[in-house]
Amino acid sequence: MEAIILAGGFGTRLRPLTYTRAKALLPILNKPMIHYLINMLPKEVDKVILAVNYRKDQIEEYLKNNNFGKEIIVNDEPEPLGTGGAVKFAEKHVTGSFLVLNADIICSLNLDNMIDFHEKKNAVSTISLWRVENVSEFGVVDMKDDGNVIGFVEKPKPEDAPSDLINAGAYFLEPKVLDYIETGRLVSMEKEIFPQIITDTEKFFGFEFKGYWIDVGRIQSYIDANKLLLKNQKLKYYEGNDCEIDGELSKSSIGSNVFIGNNANLGSTIVFDNVKIGKNVVLNNCVIGENCRIGDHSNLKNSVVGDNEIVIEKTVLDNKMVWDQPVPHGYPKKQIGNVIGE
Ligand code: GTP
Repeated sequence: MEAIILAGGFGTRLRPLTYTRAKALLPILNKPMIHYLINMLPKEVDKVILAVNYRKDQIEEYLKNNNFGKEIIVNDEPEPLGTGGAVKFAEKHVTGSFLVLNADIICSLNLDNMIDFHEKKNAVSTISLWRVENVSEFGVVDMKDDGNVIGFVEKPKPEDAPSDLINAGAYFLEPKVLDYIETGRLVSMEKEIFPQIITDTEKFFGFEFKGYWIDVGRIQSYIDANKLLLKNQKLKYYEGNDCEIDGELSKSSIGSNVFIGNNANLGSTIVFDNVKIGKNVVLNNCVIGENCRIGDHSNLKNSVVGDNEIVIEKTVLDNKMVWDQPVPHGYPKKQIGNVIGE
């Protein structure tokens, strides 16, 4: 069985981190996000198709150096084709019913159970569903009691919402879904293809799961995902190899070769590899990119520092993005494809 992992987005809401790396490679407890996703695939999946575009070389390199015990195909789109176009572009590798997963979810979904559900319902498409409180930020499903989805409502007011269940970014699809997607253009699976399948087949089902789910789309949800996995693993903090820590860390994760100076204090923070954090530095709810230096006595809150940046001593930042380098050529100024708001 094949699984297509959609990993070609620019991840604009995660800039400046995504100026220099693919979103799927952002580290959580010092392992790329995609590591968790590939490890959650059922045994039955013997072929993983990575639908890539932006920063594809980095993804290819990572997969070449890590053995997941499955055949991995890096399917390189000539240009971003959107969530639907990317699936169509992978058609040549698909041999039967197949999984599609967004590369940016961290969750406890049991895909075997979802596949069983799909087969029992004789479905054409099954979509994973997650229950939320804030329906007005999401596309919500309108669904019958037996799980048959009859429509989606985008960002409804709470009183108008047909349910509190949203698309969790994992699907199990029959090959005939591919016939609905036009070749060679930007197509959104969620906005264009799913509504058509609902109308035409009436065999579109929703599979709710419990446990945890985070869509790592924004800096805050990225930090939250890191904290969630720390909690699941009952860790106060996580450190990579060859670190020197002379300060306090809580709910934080640091990469390899990180130096943390005397009396520094890190809370709810992610630090990438090769970083030097000076003495008396306070970091709260921050992300610090690779090869950064944070000067002594600095105090950063709710802020993100891109790779290779230097923050001079005694800097105070709240809710800021640090990026003093050129934005990579071709990087979009705003979201493309599924615009979900910043
Ligand atoms: P933003 O720019 O912040 O919206 O992020 P994004 O570009 O990653 O978009 P979004 O979060 O909506 O994407 C959901 C999933 O689909 C992510 O795993 C993306 O990598 C993936 N994705 C989005 N657009 C494309 C595309 O054009 N091609 C491929 N292969 N994957 C895509």
